[in-house]
Amino acid sequence: MINNYTVATVFGGTGFIGRQVVRELASRGVIVKVATRVPEGGYFLKPSGRVGQIVPFACRYDSPESLAQAVKGSDLVVNCVGILFERGKRRTFRRVHVDQPAAIARACAEAGVLRLVHISSLSCDKAQSAYAKSKLEGEKAVFANFPRATILRPSVVFGSEDRFFNMFAKLSRYLPFLPLIGGGHTKLQPVYVGDVADAVIASLYAVGDEAGGGVEGEVFELGGPEVLSFREVYAKMFVHTGRKRLLVSIPWSLAKVQAWFMRIMPEPLLTADQVETLKTDNVVSKGMKGFADLGILPRSLDSVLPGYLEVYRPGGRLAKVKA
Ligand SMILES: NC(=O)c1ccc[n+]([C@@H]2O[C@H](COP(=O)([O-])OP(=O)(O)OC[C@H]3O[C@@H](n4cnc5c(N)ncnc54)[C@H](OP(=O)(O)O)[C@@H]3O)[C@@H](O)[C@H]2O)c1
Repeated sequence: MINNYTVATVFGGTGFIGRQVVRELASRGVIVKVATRVPEGGYFLKPSGRVGQIVPFACRYDSPESLAQAVKGSDLVVNCVGILFERGKRRTFRRVHVDQPAAIARACAEAGVLRLVHISSLSCDKAQSAYAKSKLEGEKAVFANFPRATILRPSVVFGSEDRFFNMFAKLSRYLPFLPLIGGGHTKLQPVYVGDVADAVIASLYAVGDEAGGGVEGEVFELGGPEVLSFREVYAKMFVHTGRKRLLVSIPWSLAKVQAWFMRIMPEPLLTADQVETLKTDNVVSKGMKGFADLGILPRSLDSVLPGYLEVYRPGGRLAKVKA
């Protein structure tokens, strides 16, 4: 099904996961419309394809006409839009995680799109945060409007452009200690961004059917090969940055107070809602479909982290060479 005549629309294609999806689709010859609020912000993706193959496309999410234009002529649609914190009346979880996916799914159904893949979030059916609840409601809204959609729920995603390891590695450059929210016992199953993009592609193909057909109406939980506590995640990061920092346990209630003060930052490092999310383990549930069902062997942290965390080593990337 995927060939040089296939057209795909990727909503949120400028983001961390979306850009990887755009690159993977382009490498398979697909013409990609990158639906974005600011087309100029998508120009950096153009060199990942042939001339004219990757097209940033202005999109207004509150306009059904604009969404119809964004998916018009597309065989495949992927929704990678999401936010970590709310701001003002327009940037709310309800709007971005529920209303927008519903409108996208509706536009896809009306335009006769073949496949819709929606990126949700692992443990959205368990965590009690507003973020998680909105992601779960968004899944229901997608299925209600496009029952054949495929939903992917990744755990925390890592890769050279991630916010997770890069943020903690940056903090460890300047701070003598790093926080262990709630004692750092929460379990995570970090997943490589390239594997998430491969899962999107596999969802667009039928598993084991090269002619195409796709995976439809299913939810896949995407976790990497390792389940680690937050404390163990830090330990792994320290190995690859060559820096060791004191780990300070912060009780849940104190973390919420700290987050309250951080809310005035343009991009808060932590929000009270994220503290709430962290109270629930972020690991794949027993009995749920996942990478194996999509024919993908996910990569380990140790196979990817050295490639982008060595810049945080004392002395930088060339420190080892100089030595
Ligand atoms: N990163 C992770 O660790 C992780 C883990 C689990 C689940 N997820 C989910 O995966 C999806 C992608 O995450 P990501 O890390 O790639 O996010 P990201 O880097 O922040 O990118 C999200 C994209 O969404 C668009 N966007 C942001 N705010 C918007 C708004 N108010 N209205 C419309 N569009 C908006 C932006 O595109 P434009 O500015 O171009 O419009 C942005 O490029 C999200 O649904 C997220 O919840 C991510």
